[in-house]
Amino acid sequence: MEVFRIYTRSPLRNFTYILRNPETFQTLSIDPYDPNQIDSFLEKRGWNLDFILNTHEHADHTSGNEVLFQKYKPIVYCHPAGIGKIPHATHPIKKGDRILTSSDRYLEILDTPGHTFCHVCLLLVEQGKSKAIFTGDTLFNAGVGNCYRGGDPEILARTILEQIYPLENEIVLYPGHDYLESNLKFTLSLDPSNQYAIDTLKESDRLQKDVEFLTTTLGKEKKINTFLQCDRPSKDLLENLRKKSTLHVTKNDPKSVFVSLRSLRDHW
Ligand SMILES: [Fe+2]
Repeated sequence: MEVFRIYTRSPLRNFTYILRNPETFQTLSIDPYDPNQIDSFLEKRGWNLDFILNTHEHADHTSGNEVLFQKYKPIVYCHPAGIGKIPHATHPIKKGDRILTSSDRYLEILDTPGHTFCHVCLLLVEQGKSKAIFTGDTLFNAGVGNCYRGGDPEILARTILEQIYPLENEIVLYPGHDYLESNLKFTLSLDPSNQYAIDTLKESDRLQKDVEFLTTTLGKEKKINTFLQCDRPSKDLLENLRKKSTLHVTKNDPKSVFVSLRSLRDHW
């Protein structure tokens, strides 16, 4: 699959993605934000827009729908509970559905509630192997989405623990926002000797700001993202979490670690 990441320069640092299946020449936009930016990308290449998929209903993930729909008349997919909330969404997609399919590749839908209750993620599978995941506001580089605009931290904990933890380390992460730098600083506020986070922050500092972005894998995320360490928190992480959190944290209860982390991150 051809994957293009477009940085929107929005106040919330959104990413929009354009995917093109080289076998069918069909094109999909995930979370279109700025319709003019996407339109000029497509125009330059002479491409149509066959599909839109909104990972969830928040306006910063759907604001491009209206203008793009008028011009390209794409099929607009979303979680069944997003129908009626997301502009022009008519095609509900559920867990296990496949889109942008051809003989050797497709996007598989994961039903991932927690940030909101209309949230899906997309797993890119090629030649039978999971290659990348588009996570909207469920999983970010070194962090996860918040739950205070229609979500629930306990439900997000379950989604991350049950659906993201088992995925292979080689899978490339494509999140809905760029929060890498602030999230790494959050990691280091609780786990200051995390050398992977220190190195990744340095790596990110060397990139051209707002032009180049670090792309991580889930394997790397497991080292720098505290929310992916709830089943095996380091000594420092656990101690600092207990010191700073008002919630009860139990070492062998990953959900309690996750919910405490989410609550600390909300006020950090
Ligand atoms: Fe959101």
